[in-house]
Amino acid sequence: MINKDQILSTLASKQFGKNILAFDTIDSTNTFAKTLTKTAAPQGTVIIADQQTEGRGRQQRNWVSENGMNLLFSVILYPEFDLKKISLLPFAGSLAVADAIESVTELSPTCKWPNDVLINNKKVCGMLLETSSGNSGIERIILGIGLNVNQEEFSDDLRHKATSLKNECGLDVDRIRLLQKILEELENRYEQLSRFPAGQLLNDWRMKALLFGKKITVLESEFSFTATAIDVADDGSLIIQTDDGHKRNIFAGDVSLAYT
Ligand code: BTN
Repeated sequence: MINKDQILSTLASKQFGKNILAFDTIDSTNTFAKTLTKTAAPQGTVIIADQQTEGRGRQQRNWVSENGMNLLFSVILYPEFDLKKISLLPFAGSLAVADAIESVTELSPTCKWPNDVLINNKKVCGMLLETSSGNSGIERIILGIGLNVNQEEFSDDLRHKATSLKNECGLDVDRIRLLQKILEELENRYEQLSRFPAGQLLNDWRMKALLFGKKITVLESEFSFTATAIDVADDGSLIIQTDDGHKRNIFAGDVSLAYT
């Protein structure tokens, strides 16, 4: 089982991950995180599990992961910055994961809008952000991260589009070291977002994004069309040019993307 004391012993963050709740099996770390009060789960609290029985992905999909092989965790955040910056948290998350992978392995991950991390064009990490609002607007964000670390086998429907760090670098990767590095990077990115103009974070993300200038297929509920990805806007939306020449912005909650 992932060991909480081992994580804490050499964790170099100031706040993120200092309060950790670790489980062998849980329904979903995101679902559990929602049940906690702010006193029980202050800023940067991490809920982590070796196995989820009801792991959830974006757009009502499941997140399936082999027991004890990967990283499945949620970070609880109470952002005090404006809504525009809050919408950039997925970029902070995917950059933190990509940078951590790069420093713990020899791999070169890329970021796929809005919040996936890929290696050799296959998905290695996905994120599910869930928001709770109160009278004063957004009060809490649960950032759920699923990262395939040492899993070697994937089901037939996933094999062509999902991978793990072990499958890409040929070695077992230390889950604890990787988690520590992600939490340290995430704390830095969160601070960057709260203190500096959003453009800084977006520029760093652009350097890791493969998408721009590429043809993509946009799946909008039951409707799909092809377009070219142009850039990411300051509010985190993706600027695309449709095949009939119109530019428009698409928002992460509404669509999923495929490279064509
Ligand atoms: C996606 O790419 O669709 C997002 C996947 C997010 C999976 C993680 S695993 C930890 C956390 N708990 C969940 O139930 N989901 C997220």
